[in-house]
Amino acid sequence: MEKKVVLSGMRPTGKLHVGHYFGVLVNWMDLQEREDTDCFYFVADWHALTTEYDSTSSLKSNVREMVLDWLACGIDPEKVTLFVQSWVKEHAELHLLLSMITPLPWLERNPTYKEQLREQETRDLYTYGFLGYPVLQAADIIIYRANLVPVGIDQVPHVELTREIARRFNHFYGDVFPLPEPYLTETPKLLGTDNRKMSKSYGNAIFLSDEDDQVRKKVMEMVTDPQRKTRRDPGDPDVCNVFSFHKIFSPPELISRVNRECRSAEIGCVECKKLMAENLLSFISPIRERRKEIESRSGIVEKILEEGSEKARSVARNTMEKVREAVGI
Ligand code: TRP
Ligand code: SF4
Repeated sequence: MEKKVVLSGMRPTGKLHVGHYFGVLVNWMDLQEREDTDCFYFVADWHALTTEYDSTSSLKSNVREMVLDWLACGIDPEKVTLFVQSWVKEHAELHLLLSMITPLPWLERNPTYKEQLREQETRDLYTYGFLGYPVLQAADIIIYRANLVPVGIDQVPHVELTREIARRFNHFYGDVFPLPEPYLTETPKLLGTDNRKMSKSYGNAIFLSDEDDQVRKKVMEMVTDPQRKTRRDPGDPDVCNVFSFHKIFSPPELISRVNRECRSAEIGCVECKKLMAENLLSFISPIRERRKEIESRSGIVEKILEEGSEKARSVARNTMEKVREAVGI
């Protein structure tokens, strides 16, 4: 059976939150379990440098924290290849070659580029590396001759650009690369405790490694239906993020009870949150405990990443031989 090559990466942002779990990791795990796939998952530490080039002191520990979360969630190094981007130098060589053939306008009109320049006002992002972010991402993907790229919807333009770059390479030098496709699945939208997008930098995230009492406290602070000002006002669960959490973490009877009793003001937000927090905890606590257990085995993360990077390197090296031959260099 011809297996599909799956490749995906995450920037090392440190500890992961429940948004990451349902946004990306669920897909990673589904693909890891499929018989017809060969999965490569990596830490995009060079990509972190495209924006955080001036503050690198926690970069290494962020790599470790994130991989610990992957493992605690059930990403299995026996089934997939886990590695660090900067440990496989071939990505950099392919990035350089791709940079020669990538037209500047393709990069300048990339929606995430324009958006980040607008949003990250405090940081100077008028750098060569930041403009080239998608070129490096294209190299990450095609160096494994990947077919499927499981990512969040925000990354789709980057996968599209990867296809364009791969097509241009094939056009100039011959058919070396398959054209990869984004792999999206419906993911429930979990907002942060303040109803903005869940993000570490907003301070509104519930982490997979949070202790029980931290989780309870964060849940009690969650924003609810703003129309429901007092206990006697009926609420609308459809506009309440606490209810979105119930839909993921609570059993069906409780979901329908909340759906009913919120509208008739029979249940108060405090009780509703307490019930949700306990169900959320039965999801988080085992992950957190597994994380501690893995963390106590010293050197395990490093060993997994070294072995994975070695495997990734041999695939990447093989592709680079074909690439150099095709380019004629
Ligand atoms: N840009 C991705 C993100 O911000 C991370 C990433 C880098 C990536 N290289 C990749 C994702 C290759 C998929 C494939 O999340
Ligand atoms: Fe939200 Fe629950 Fe309060 Fe309804 S009762 S507004 S679902 S927290």
